[in-house]
Amino acid sequence: MTSYSKILGTGGYLPEEIRTNEQISETVDTSDSWIFERTGIKSRRIAAPHETAASMAEIAARQAIEAANCDPDEIDLIIVATGTPEYVYPSTACLLQQRLGNKNAAAFDIQAACSGSIYALSIVDQFIKSGSAKKALIVGTEICSRIVDWTDRGTCILFGDGAGALLIGASNEAGVLSTHIHADGEFEELLYCRNSQIASIDSQDEEIGFINMRGNEVFKVAVNTLGRIVDETLEANKMAKEEIDWLVPHQANIRIIMATAKKLKMSMDQVVVTLENQGNTSSASVLLAFNEAVRDGRIKRGQVVLLEAFGAGFTWGSALIKY
Ligand code: UT7
Repeated sequence: MTSYSKILGTGGYLPEEIRTNEQISETVDTSDSWIFERTGIKSRRIAAPHETAASMAEIAARQAIEAANCDPDEIDLIIVATGTPEYVYPSTACLLQQRLGNKNAAAFDIQAACSGSIYALSIVDQFIKSGSAKKALIVGTEICSRIVDWTDRGTCILFGDGAGALLIGASNEAGVLSTHIHADGEFEELLYCRNSQIASIDSQDEEIGFINMRGNEVFKVAVNTLGRIVDETLEANKMAKEEIDWLVPHQANIRIIMATAKKLKMSMDQVVVTLENQGNTSSASVLLAFNEAVRDGRIKRGQVVLLEAFGAGFTWGSALIKY
């Protein structure tokens, strides 16, 4: 019998500190109205000094584990997606495993920038379908505020901190229907963050250690690419647009999200939007949005949900699931 990956539990964590557009306007040349009109963002969360990608991951993961009514030791695969790990090694996934007291899982990180959660879901789906894992934990966790240049108005307005989690188990019922992941490394220059300690020492990049983005160019590629992945996903499942109940998109910019919803002929009432008060939390964003809509009762068991993301690399991907 086919084994599907079924979402058994979800979790999320947002740090306490709220940083508003008004606060950012006090230090860089921007305004609340510009930021809100061009991005849909009003405020974002900022991690406290003692918090790390692993500490936030633990809170989100424990919520997902509890929602799934599962024992941490039952988990046999832990994948963490993060672009802001505290350590080069060990991986954040191993730090999380230790925090959860789990001894039975393989644990590793993946780096696919804002598409990390979709990449992780795709990997977990292959492990579960092949019978190599029975219960898997996915976490996207980011402290973007520590790699943002707070003097650069083109990027500091966009990003926020947070963690989202999914506990996934093998099931005879669908489940993840399909996942689609892609990359094109040619776009390195449009969006990157070079590691200040490891980058080649002859580098002259003044922006080293910070997010560097040519926003308008990223925007255009993102809209076109996400349009194509929607077609690819529907076609792979022989599904019509009308059969999708919810769109849970990566939360980068409301105008990108609206373009994808329009492509799907979906009303914005069927789109989960969290970026107004969270900004772009990179690999955590889709998982945080999914968790919010499950917990507030919008996404119900049996409904068809399209998840999609786009990020540095470029990387992009989608997952169609029956919740
Ligand atoms: O998650 C990973 C993927 N990332 C994304 O998907 C982000 C995609 N990009 C975006 O969301 C948008 O491109 C931004 C929100 C970053 C920028 O919006 P835009 O409409 O593309 O603006 P722009 O870069 O074309 O800039 C238009 C103008 C420029 O001024 P001039 O040259 O027309 O005088 C900018 O200097 O807006 C100016 N500008 C700002 N003005 C006030 C840029 N940032 C700001 C700002 N406040 N924060």
